[in-house]
Amino acid sequence: MSDAYLVIEQSKHMEGTLEVSGAKNATLPLMAATILTEEPCIIRNVPNLLDIKNMIELLSDMGKKITMDKNTLCIEGPILNKETREDIVRKMRASVLVMGPLIAKYKSGKVSMPGGCSIGARPIDQHLKAAKKIGVDIEIEQGFINLKAQNLNPIDFRFDMITVTGTENVFCMLSTLEDESILRNIALEPEVINLADALRQMGVLIEIDELERTAKIKGKKELKGFDIKVIPDRIEAGTFMVLALATGSKINIVNLNVNHIESVLQKLEIAGAKVDILSPDSVLVYPKEDKINPLYIETLEYPGFPTDMQAQFMSLLSIADGESTIVENIFENRFQHAQELARMGACIRIHSKTAYVKGVKSLKGAEVFSTDLRASAGLVIAGLMAEGKSIIRNIYHLDRGYDHIEQKLEKIGAKVKRINS
Ligand code: EPZ
Repeated sequence: MSDAYLVIEQSKHMEGTLEVSGAKNATLPLMAATILTEEPCIIRNVPNLLDIKNMIELLSDMGKKITMDKNTLCIEGPILNKETREDIVRKMRASVLVMGPLIAKYKSGKVSMPGGCSIGARPIDQHLKAAKKIGVDIEIEQGFINLKAQNLNPIDFRFDMITVTGTENVFCMLSTLEDESILRNIALEPEVINLADALRQMGVLIEIDELERTAKIKGKKELKGFDIKVIPDRIEAGTFMVLALATGSKINIVNLNVNHIESVLQKLEIAGAKVDILSPDSVLVYPKEDKINPLYIETLEYPGFPTDMQAQFMSLLSIADGESTIVENIFENRFQHAQELARMGACIRIHSKTAYVKGVKSLKGAEVFSTDLRASAGLVIAGLMAEGKSIIRNIYHLDRGYDHIEQKLEKIGAKVKRINS
């Protein structure tokens, strides 16, 4: 991994426009779903990210013909090799998303166990529990999952907990079964709905009841190709909004979907931001006053407050006018950025899954290390807020989920430089 790093100097009272790219977490399941058909699948508004390159490498390695023209992917052809490469899966856990389509289309496959990452163990027991119930024989050996099935049966299955990629994997697993299945306690993230829309284009009947959190699925033996636009990245949009408030800037954020981040907008306005909704895909964000109000935040599954926004808000609240409380309900180890913020003078106490953030007057620049994708975004915000200069190392985490963030930020006057040492 490259040891490139960012040098950031305090940048306040900026003005300008920031464009939101397509959502990484919508693009990855859409790419995996192309395994379900040999027909051409077109995916538009694809972000230019490390994880997308990894998924292109993984699918090409499995036999798919892939062309990328600017931000449009065309993926077609049969799968010739049903084994995922361990080195790619290690870099990107989301590779496990190929499991569902392999089961549905080929009734076999060999998928490397994704393993955990810095934010938690990230087990896939729910994915496997559903696969077993559908009739897949699963054998785990040498870190690989060997999948084999004679026949696949429709199921009535309740997830023990709400899982985003678990829901996406099982949607795909069921997409070639012509008898109706019912899934209960499903995830409702916009990225899941983006995938459901693509599967519907392929010929799968999916009926989602958002209140009941259930899905009724009737597949088809032979599925067609699809042509779909990736939804805007709601986490990148939210990151830019937090940045505006944290640095006292006035930023127009465009190409987002306002309806996907209501829970974030609410918290931002309580914290002291004014959010003018100019249109469903354009907002103007700026501070109402020159202080940040403390917040009580609990991360929850969609439509609750997203865990992927927790680190960014912790940076913001480190200079709030009082003490904030952040409860992380989704992942068991997602406060690592707190110790990095402490190096910048933040005053944060952690007790089990709760962080108590006592606002200080201002942060001071320091050398910090990013630990996971969203934490690195939080550190970029902290670097722009802090007096003096900061260095952020391990920014390959950042490149996995943000499309050249320093180039976007430089356009609004942020003092951010990438050093490829
Ligand atoms: C997706 O991860 C996202 N990744 C994550 O974004 C996001 O943080 C997460 O959903 C929660 O919103 C992608 O979509 C590629 P989960 P996922 O399964 O699907 C437990 C980013 O930065 N669980 O919804 O892996 C799990 O341990 C990433 O882009 C089980 O116990 O998350 C966690 O505590 C970070 N068994 C909780 O459920 C299972 O079989 C939610 O996990 C599955 C999950």
